[in-house]
Amino acid sequence: MSSNVPSPRLVRIGLAGLGNVGMGVFKNLRQNGGLLKERTGCVLRVDRIAVRDVTKPRGAEIPANMITGDWRELVADPNLDVMVELVGGTTEAFDLVCASLRAKKPVVTGNKALLAERGQELFALAEQCHVPIYFEAAVAGGIPIIQTVQEGFVGNHIKSIHGIINGTCNYILSRMKEAGISYEQALDEAQAHGFAEADPTLDVSGWDAAHKAIILASLSYGFWIKPQDVHVEGIERVTPTEMAFAEKLGYTIKLLSVIRADAEGRVEVSTRPSLLPSSHILASVSGAYNAVLVNGDIVGETLFYGKGAGQDPTSSSVISDLAEAAATLVYGQRHSGFVPHGLYGKSKPAAETISHYYVRLKVDDKPGVLAQVAALLGDRGIGISSVMQPEELGSEFTSLILMLDDATLATVKEAIGSIAALECVRETPVWMRVETMEG
Ligand code: HSE
Repeated sequence: MSSNVPSPRLVRIGLAGLGNVGMGVFKNLRQNGGLLKERTGCVLRVDRIAVRDVTKPRGAEIPANMITGDWRELVADPNLDVMVELVGGTTEAFDLVCASLRAKKPVVTGNKALLAERGQELFALAEQCHVPIYFEAAVAGGIPIIQTVQEGFVGNHIKSIHGIINGTCNYILSRMKEAGISYEQALDEAQAHGFAEADPTLDVSGWDAAHKAIILASLSYGFWIKPQDVHVEGIERVTPTEMAFAEKLGYTIKLLSVIRADAEGRVEVSTRPSLLPSSHILASVSGAYNAVLVNGDIVGETLFYGKGAGQDPTSSSVISDLAEAAATLVYGQRHSGFVPHGLYGKSKPAAETISHYYVRLKVDDKPGVLAQVAALLGDRGIGISSVMQPEELGSEFTSLILMLDDATLATVKEAIGSIAALECVRETPVWMRVETMEG
């Protein structure tokens, strides 16, 4: 008796990179292979794996004959249908993706640095080769935010995106706030828990989150944002003192990525430690979690929350891409992965971006000091919305905390430079953006 159920199509995967996420992909494809077969009509099977060090023990579940030291063998193998790039970096990974596209193999990648820095070239090649690139795992780990922006909100102009999209930094800042510990102590803890890399530079410098913001902004606005147009600051200089003052003022410090278009369609992209109203839902996102708040002109505000890193959450996104790649191979073509359009097209210079600001000064405790500081701000048209001066009895110095009204980054920077040069100012001023979350 013949069955109407078509037999599942076998989709053979070449996996380049067997680190934490690569292992997760291998393991979870096996674990949930039956479910995937039911849902996609395809058997998704890793047939070959390329690693840097072939001598490293990989565990009994990875047959030795699957492994090679050269990803080029995978790209050249006519029996493989799809390539997964998890080697990291922007040079070898770039070569691998280009070679795969030229070999007509769709690529799944989680490499945010690669796409943020070289996405424009890669998607041009993908378009030329008529071969798609999938990259759900590149932003916010297990949260399906790429699909959301590309498909779920295809009918919306994106008004803004606010994201906490680096788990390591969010863990560090959360611990500093909860336990009152220093940045260094919190970083040690993050490393001990396996959240932070041995070299955490990309995370704590803000660049990992900025790469993700570049990808989200480019998808949302249809043109490639250049990394040099993004204002990026890391969390290295955030101190428990700032945490405590922010808290007193009703704010929480987060590494916040902000993406929004102004009335002229210029797109602002930044990642920096920012003061968020503690009552806002994003302020309660703590630990290694990520959250992305997307505001579309039709849908309004939407919030996505989940694990932004780690073996299982990230492999969940890679597997979703593999399922999509398989469906496309079996049922037909889709776009290359990036759809350019002409509605926007210009980055807003960081210097022209407008925010409220928090400023903390260490100053002489004597009459006239506040007036001097206020005059330098007033001369530049910067309003002060509140001032706090905690009583520090017996000291000749005092802290002066100012909340500034809306001003451009360039004006505030210049004003702070002049304030820093005042004789009564005793330390380099600390200043941070305040994100009011309005618009
Ligand atoms: N290291 C990143 C984080 C995950 O801590 O969120 C990979 O981008």
